[in-house]
Amino acid sequence: MVAYETAAIIGTGTMGPGMGAVLERAGLKTFLFDIDSAALDRARAGVDLASGVLDRLDAPQVPGGSIHFSMGLEEAVREADLVIEAVSENLDLKKKVFEDLVALAPEAAVLASNTSGIPITKIAEGSDGAPRIIGMHWSNPPHLIPMIEVVQGDQTSATVKDELREFIQSFGYEAVSEREVPGFVENRILYAILREVVELVERGIISHADMDTCVKWGIGFKLAVIGPLELIDMAGLDIYNSVGSYLNQDLSTASTVSSMITDRVAEGRLGMKTLGGIYDYDADDIKALGAARAAKLIAVRKALEGNKGGE
Ligand SMILES: NC(=O)c1ccc[n+]([C@@H]2O[C@H](COP(=O)([O-])OP(=O)(O)OC[C@H]3O[C@@H](n4cnc5c(N)ncnc54)[C@H](O)[C@@H]3O)[C@@H](O)[C@H]2O)c1
Repeated sequence: MVAYETAAIIGTGTMGPGMGAVLERAGLKTFLFDIDSAALDRARAGVDLASGVLDRLDAPQVPGGSIHFSMGLEEAVREADLVIEAVSENLDLKKKVFEDLVALAPEAAVLASNTSGIPITKIAEGSDGAPRIIGMHWSNPPHLIPMIEVVQGDQTSATVKDELREFIQSFGYEAVSEREVPGFVENRILYAILREVVELVERGIISHADMDTCVKWGIGFKLAVIGPLELIDMAGLDIYNSVGSYLNQDLSTASTVSSMITDRVAEGRLGMKTLGGIYDYDADDIKALGAARAAKLIAVRKALEGNKGGE
């Protein structure tokens, strides 16, 4: 049984605080480090917010956990059993961070990256620590989505992978193991869906709002309970075979991003952060929208967890 007692999270932007709150709750002494003092200050509020969500989820609280904010990398990692790198998505930056981690963290520490898609093999290339460098890809928001992709690079040790999986399961999250593939598995599936969604809306087949309703209440709701391969079994492989044999030929194979997206990006319509993207937003409504979505995710997760025994 793996027993990590101390963790360090390197980079406290969007992802760091939620991951920190989960690890603290799991009983770990958890250090949060950032080179930017303003980011570290924001992280205090981020950890409090995430801890409040974990309370509402009735997430189990293992005694002994604590949170420490640090602007010294050595202080943050020197006792760590597990370090999670969550700095900006840039290969050179991550390579430099891992160089420092190999030098400063204990020799036995597992060094994980939360990268969304940079190959672990590239991050670990030329590093003495390559066998203990591994992908640990949390889904956003990390305190709400209880699934983490564990990604082995070419040189990652199988023992490190097995231990990390075991650790993730120990705090009630699902762990999935993957061989390295561009984008990792979760984002590949998401982007396959998004490509088809954007194309159908752009062709005027369906409105924006009806598309979101169709996916949320049709595919989305169902997929939270029945996995896609389970769905094939449920529908029948003969049905999938006959529908797939003509429909696959008609699905989008676009290898560039649709002008529906690129035109908006050129206009500065980037989504909620600019109060307009596909939809328009009112600044006052954005906070309420975030809170309403969090409340729904909490309710859905509790309902699904309550039914785990029935699987
Ligand atoms: N945001 C998401 O939805 C999401 C989801 C899954 C994975 N990820 C991945 O997680 C990582 C972090 O993403 P994010 O959205 O939290 O990024 P972010 O840009 O919000 O935050 C990155 C933080 O890293 C800090 N930083 C930069 N250089 C540093 C250094 N040398 N040492 C310590 N801190 C440093 C920055 O000051 C900033 O606070 C990325 O690899 C990203 O691809 C993001």
